Amino acid sequence: MSEPRVRRRFAPGTTIEDLKEYMGPFVDRLGYKFNTESWFVDDVLTSELEILEQTGDVYCPCRVRTGDPKEDVKIICPCIPFHRDEFAAIKKCWCGLFVLKEVEDGSELFGVIEEPSGEVEVPVFRVEDLPPGQIRHVKVGKADIAVARVGDEFFALSNVCRHAFAPLADGFLDGYHVMCPWHGWRYDVRDGTTDHPDADVRTYPVTVREGHVFVTVRIRG
Ligand code: FES
Repeated sequence: MSEPRVRRRFAPGTTIEDLKEYMGPFVDRLGYKFNTESWFVDDVLTSELEILEQTGDVYCPCRVRTGDPKEDVKIICPCIPFHRDEFAAIKKCWCGLFVLKEVEDGSELFGVIEEPSGEVEVPVFRVEDLPPGQIRHVKVGKADIAVARVGDEFFALSNVCRHAFAPLADGFLDGYHVMCPWHGWRYDVRDGTTDHPDADVRTYPVTVREGHVFVTVRIRG
């Protein structure tokens, strides 16, 4: 019987330093950094290198692979984009390899904890990643959200047009209004209102701090 085929995203001989170099800038854009405990970071990355040898990719050492590629892609490290809301609530990724930038002491953020619930401020991108006058889509948990920048103000609203479900982030931002790309309905990004009856979209609180834009969402009840 032939050996299972291993898909390789990293070259043989990949080191801990290679992983740090690859992952560091990626998580920085998302508002995260490596845990402040460097020995713990090295331990986790050592485990990831072992998994890389076995599987061909750096699956999270603290999650169980299902065998379904569509599901398992969500636990390839760094898996922050798939769990933005949950990780923001616990200030770390599942195993604690990455912590929110605001965390000064990561020594108590090791290991898996219960999945969170409630309201949470989720870092979505750096201020510099969205120039004034533009709007972009972010996925936070199950929510598709359009984040707009008007001058130095940021606003977040549902990305789904109430007319025929077009993605509003593909639309045109005109002052405080976004025009839907398909048939031109206009929404006020400040409160989600439109001229069409019963067709307003929901909005989300936005905060900006330490160079990052945060959107507040509610997770699990
Ligand atoms: S889908 Fe937005 S205006 Fe038609």
